[in-house]
Amino acid sequence: MTIPFVDLKSQYQALKKSIDARIHKVLDHGQYIMGPEVRELEERLEAYTGARHCITVASGTEALLISLMSLGIKPGDEIITTPFTFIATAEVIVLLGAVPVFVDIEPDTCNINASLIEAVITSKTKAIMPVSLYGQPADMDEINAVATRHGNIPVIEDAAQSFGAEYKGLKSCNLSTIGCTSFFPSKPLGCYGDGGAIFTNNDGLAQAMREIRVHGQTKRYVHTRVGVGGRMDTIQCAIVLAKLERFDWEIEQRLLIGRRYNEWIDSAGLQRVQQRPDRTSVFAQYTILLDQRDEAQKRFSDLSIPAMVHYPIPLNEQPAYKHLCCPDCTPVAQALSRRVMSLPMGPDLLEVDHERVVAALKIAIQQRPVLFQ
Ligand SMILES: Cc1ncc(COP(=O)(O)O)c(C=O)c1O
Repeated sequence: MTIPFVDLKSQYQALKKSIDARIHKVLDHGQYIMGPEVRELEERLEAYTGARHCITVASGTEALLISLMSLGIKPGDEIITTPFTFIATAEVIVLLGAVPVFVDIEPDTCNINASLIEAVITSKTKAIMPVSLYGQPADMDEINAVATRHGNIPVIEDAAQSFGAEYKGLKSCNLSTIGCTSFFPSKPLGCYGDGGAIFTNNDGLAQAMREIRVHGQTKRYVHTRVGVGGRMDTIQCAIVLAKLERFDWEIEQRLLIGRRYNEWIDSAGLQRVQQRPDRTSVFAQYTILLDQRDEAQKRFSDLSIPAMVHYPIPLNEQPAYKHLCCPDCTPVAQALSRRVMSLPMGPDLLEVDHERVVAALKIAIQQRPVLFQ
């Protein structure tokens, strides 16, 4: 039997009673847009992250877009970011007519290399957007320090993959000027459709974000700024509220499974994405590094183990983006995009399934050792 890459069915079965009750409550009160669950969730997430404001929005992409809009980003502005991420990170920059400036990544964590940021800051730099890739924050102290040195450039953490992670004891989403997360179903904290949230401690930005979320409206049918239709549905907020019930346990499970993978991968002499000691990754993905990745992935699929690639093409090599930055400017991202492969991961991954993944790796290594050097 094929092991699911992310097991959402088992999670639903475990939480069925609460999720169903929460959904029915919304159906009963009928406030599908901006119902009471929206603010209830925002308050819970403010308490969880320690951020003063949480603004729920329609998706992680919308969270990034609204954040940039709240900072007044305009055509020609430059936003520093990583090329090794999901397309949404750069897409929102380009949608506003701004220019993504891609900085190369660290070879061990695959996160933006903070030591390379200062060299690309110009008078046009209006934000720095690190991504907490695979569930692990980047070197946020170093990034915030560079931003402060250059006139308090706002830092937006794209925390779409890292809700629940920690950096030096602080929660992801509350590590910089703004944090943006996604509740896409397979994310560490997911809903059953699209959803996302923005976090900030800045009252002015929070107010702007709340207005932009509802078409720039300050009073009913009074639009004081340009906005978007960016609200998160009440039912999706209700689902996330139910899922929070066992979220701490889920994080513990992710850490346990991550540790088990680490031990085995290290003892087998394979290479993997490293976790730094001062941060906790929530392992949105568990990722190993292989020289002949595509062949290894095929061997895995023959053994009924799904393996996925996040991400096969750096953003500065994507057809719609490559004219924005020379693809060869980020050699580490280029090399790693050809080597990364993610293994099944999730809080409901049973020990027996985890052992099957490891056993499949062993078989694949025995059969074609050259693939795994
Ligand atoms: C790093 C990153 N940024 C942004 C997004 C966009 O989130 P959403 O799919 O909720 O729009 C994702 C989702 O895959 C992501 O992984």
